[in-house]
Amino acid sequence: MQAFFSHAMKAALLLSAIFSANAHADDVLYREFGEKPGLAKIVDDLYDNVLADPRTQPYFEDAPIKRIKQKLVEQFCVLLDGPCEYTGRTMKRTHEGQNIDRAAFNALVEDLQKAMDKNGVPFHSQNKLLAKLAPMYRDVQDRE
Ligand code: HEM
Repeated sequence: MQAFFSHAMKAALLLSAIFSANAHADDVLYREFGEKPGLAKIVDDLYDNVLADPRTQPYFEDAPIKRIKQKLVEQFCVLLDGPCEYTGRTMKRTHEGQNIDRAAFNALVEDLQKAMDKNGVPFHSQNKLLAKLAPMYRDVQDRE
């Protein structure tokens, strides 16, 4: 009987170790971006970059800065498997009618890369976020 309990105990310990190892592994990416404060900083810098970039600036002339930053932080957090919920509009609904093309999209991606570099996000982690953003082009663009 005692042998059984000690066996069951070991199995339970092993399982909990596996689960906590997974929980740890799952948010590595989120942590490499500095969690919520890191993401807020990156999004602030991204916004400074797009406003200083003649290729993207015109799109943001009358845009609601505070709202966009807040929704972007939520969205990046979700994409990085962080503990967040995205409460903004769909990418298609948000960007339709804005005439965003490949050049504008690529420019914004470069502005994001600069912001990630500035905040010390490791290159392989940057690429993981970019890989998740790339397919969104389909919904963000509205001309070829
Ligand atoms: C993968 C790329 C992109 C992502 C993930 C993204 C994400 C977002 C998010 C989350 C919002 C706020 C949504 C809301 O209000 O509920 C937003 C708004 C906006 N985005 Fe993007 N965006 C992307 C690309 C672009 C590009 C390439 C441009 C233009 C160069 C752009 C211009 C704007 C503008 C002007 C708004 C404000 C729209 C408004 O409320 O009037 N976005 N974007």
